[in-house]
Amino acid sequence: MNNVVRITVDGKVIELPVIVGTEAEHGIDISRLRDQTGYITYDPGYGNTGSCSSDITYIDGEKGILRYRGIPIEQFEQSPNFVEVSWLLIFGTLPTAAEYDRFSQLLTNNAMLDEAMKLHFEGFPKQAPPMAILSAMINTLSCFHPELQGPESDDGFELAAARLTSKIRTIAAFAYRSSIGAPYNYSDPNQPYVSNFLHMMFSNPYAQYECDEEVRKAFNLLLILHADHEQNCSTSTVRMVGSSGANMYASCAAGVCALWGPLHGGANVAVLDMLDQIHKGGLSAADYVKLAKDKNSDVRLMGFGHRVYKNFDPRANMLQKVAEKLLTYLGKDDPLLKIARELEEMALSDPYFVERKLYPNVDFYSGIILRAIGIPTSMFTVIFAIGRMPGWIAHWREQSLMSSKISRPRQIYTGPPVTDYVAKSER
Ligand code: ACO
Repeated sequence: MNNVVRITVDGKVIELPVIVGTEAEHGIDISRLRDQTGYITYDPGYGNTGSCSSDITYIDGEKGILRYRGIPIEQFEQSPNFVEVSWLLIFGTLPTAAEYDRFSQLLTNNAMLDEAMKLHFEGFPKQAPPMAILSAMINTLSCFHPELQGPESDDGFELAAARLTSKIRTIAAFAYRSSIGAPYNYSDPNQPYVSNFLHMMFSNPYAQYECDEEVRKAFNLLLILHADHEQNCSTSTVRMVGSSGANMYASCAAGVCALWGPLHGGANVAVLDMLDQIHKGGLSAADYVKLAKDKNSDVRLMGFGHRVYKNFDPRANMLQKVAEKLLTYLGKDDPLLKIARELEEMALSDPYFVERKLYPNVDFYSGIILRAIGIPTSMFTVIFAIGRMPGWIAHWREQSLMSSKISRPRQIYTGPPVTDYVAKSER
């Protein structure tokens, strides 16, 4: 392969360097293109644009490969817990026993919110979308922990990373408790990450929530499978906001807002709404597929398709297995799982979806698992955000250390040419 490419612009030949990644992905470095030619590149949606180089996550969408720091996602199926994977993503290697213990302790010690923050929850309307509360409250952490205004020392960063990884759970659980008018549950220092979150969500003064081991394992894997996905919409948002020098809390709060949209993390809610609508008899699965193919409707088969995966999404395959196993274990016969399978079967044998390489994505089965655990639909995208937090932190840190350049794309202006101002009386 070449280490430069030559292009001809207005008769002038220029050479552009080629960057090669670990897995032999090739990118043309166009950072001097405008200086040399006066031209910029045009790529709405950034489908062909590499915004950075990164050491964190590798995806090959054609082959359905996803690796965190080189480790294939399938290897996380059995042993590690979410805390280990968080450390791996944020700090680059699997934690030693001492690092794991220290980070776990930091998570435990930093689970509580400042008591003054509790009052903020009361200010939101009961029906406020939990993603709005999550984003606002993560941003509010900057007020209570103003020390983290830049990449900081390693120690300072470790504490801040633990603080955010831990407190997002508490914020999420408090948002839920507040929405149902229930008292808040403080974190239990004797419980590990996942069961502690479920305790904060579901314990009541009269009945402590006991986390079943199979439920814990399913939830743990679900969080791991959401933990990073390189330059997706929310992570790119975190990096872009961070590039202005904004602190980690503010940058991750922006990531929550980007994740909220139904074409991104909000799809897990949309999938459940779609399955529910079919279940309640509004439309049959076949009607829904037909509508999703109809270019005159704006319906999409939610939980299907991906910008990068054009073969299969390995996370969806793993989550389908988790869903089947958990429902069997809990003895739940969820009709929505049956509908999901039916939709998947129809779509995978339909030329519309096959030709466009549309396969189930991570959101297709995650809602069924969360529903089986008792998580309300309104909290699905919040759970995605808890899972994605280590990825956002890792990317915020990487971009802060790697580059001091603000992210600032250009545009091709297509508005009116120079036009004179007309006084109000003469318009
Ligand atoms: N249902 C029906 N048609 C679809 C779907 C779908 N779910 N997804 C894509 N298409 C069609 C488009 O209409 C388009 O058809 P055309 O070529 O005839 O115009 C073609 O497939 C390509 O679609 P794009 O929107 O250009 O693909 P893109 O890569 O930009 O979008 C996306 C990817 C946003 C995920 C899209 O597939 C989608 O909207 N899916 C449903 C929402 C969803 O599940 N989002 C979660 C993604 S995973 C995540 O963010 C965690």
